[in-house]
This record gives sequence, C-alpha cells and structure tokens, in this order.
Amino acid sequence: MDKIIAANWKMNNTFADIKPFVKYIKKNQKNKNNLVVCVPSVMLSEFAKQAKGVCETGAQNCYFEAKGAYTGEISASMVKSTGANYTLVGHSERRQLFGETNEMLNKKLVAALKEGLKVIFCIGEVLEEKSKYKSVLKKQIVEGFAGITDFSNIVVAYEPVWAIGTGKVATTADIKKVHAFVKQTFKENFGVDMLVLYGGSVKPSNSKEILALDEVDGVLIGGASLKAEDYIAIAQSR
Ligand code: PGA
Repeated sequence: MDKIIAANWKMNNTFADIKPFVKYIKKNQKNKNNLVVCVPSVMLSEFAKQAKGVCETGAQNCYFEAKGAYTGEISASMVKSTGANYTLVGHSERRQLFGETNEMLNKKLVAALKEGLKVIFCIGEVLEEKSKYKSVLKKQIVEGFAGITDFSNIVVAYEPVWAIGTGKVATTADIKKVHAFVKQTFKENFGVDMLVLYGGSVKPSNSKEILALDEVDGVLIGGASLKAEDYIAIAQSR
C-alpha cells in the first residue's frame, strides 16, 4: 500500500524555495508514495500551482468560521480556493502555543471536511503525560472527532510532543504499541479503521525502520522536510 509522506514546513522557507523544491521532487521521486506538503498559508496558491501533478498541497491550519470579522484568520474555503486539498488540524504547536482546545479542533475538522479538504488530524501526549498516554490520546480522539460520521477524508498523525523537533524519536516498539492503541480507539468509538501517521524527529536515518512497521501508514515530517533532498530520501526509504 502507498504510505503518506507528509511534510510540514511550519514557519520556514519562502517563495523562492518553492520552485527548486518542487523541481527536485519531480525529478527524484521514484516510488508511489502519496506526498503531501503543508506550507505557510501565503504560499499555498503558488505551491499548489507549481506542484500540480507532482505532490499534494496542504495548509497547516484554518479557522472554523466560514467568513467574517476574524482578522488574520483564513477559512477552509479560502484554503480550498488556492488549489490546496489538505490541511493539518490540531498540530501540537497550535494546541500548545495558540491555545487550541479539543472543542475548537472539532469545529475546525468539521469546517475543513465540509469544504472537501482532506485532513491530517494531529494528536499526541507531552512528556509529563507519557505514562498516561492512553487517557490523553483517547480524550483527544473522542472530543476531537465528536459527531463525525464520514471518516473517508481523514488521517491521524500521532506525534508524541516530546519527540517533535527534539531529535528524540519514539522507539519502534513504542510506535507499534501506541499506533495499535490509536487504531483500536477509533474502531471501538467510531467503528472505523483509521490510518495513522507517525511524526516526531523523522529523518532519513530513521525513516526506513519506522515506515517498515505495519501499524504506520505514513509519516509527518517537520525539520527534515525543509530540504527536498531529505524529504525525498525519507520517501524513498521504504
Ligand atoms: P519534526 O516535526 O519532524 O521537526 O520533529 C514534526 C512535526 O511537528 O510535525
């Protein structure tokens, strides 16, 4: 099965980086992974235009209201109108730095799906919660997905917050265990087989063993996705 190799540029790179990045992917992507690149919102249109037929384009966030007096926000329909077809929802940096709650993220998920966007919904525990990851993840899932009945455009990214940007990667045994728990939680609560990506310090040197796990349906990559060479090395590592 194809796996999803998703990039998250976060607040990095500029317009000038789009062309060489897309060109490199076009030339060097050999196997049939599903590539999704989530770029800063101001770059969505240009990235989507250049990446047509090469990879999918995603936003990193969008607001739950459809339109109105929400200075600085962008709506799901605005994202869609750029040519992008994915968005992240609930990245841990949005949760931690911008105070996004499960309730808000549920509304964002509903708004994005309504516009026909595909959603990569992020969940994960912080270091202090590691021993009780089950209750933390279950709450994020049950509250975040409340009322959702059509899961066909959703994938989940499990990103232990202590592994994001820290160089600390969960062990393959931990990844297997937690992914199995996440899948089981979706099955029990919503009756669906959820695809689950792993994220947190994924890089070319560790991606092969992570992507080889049956419980891992793809990866979400931050730092190592900024350079096309590293991003493609990860995509080619399986
Ligand atoms: P990282 O980020 O690969 O730099 O750890 C992952 C993410 O935040 O999605």
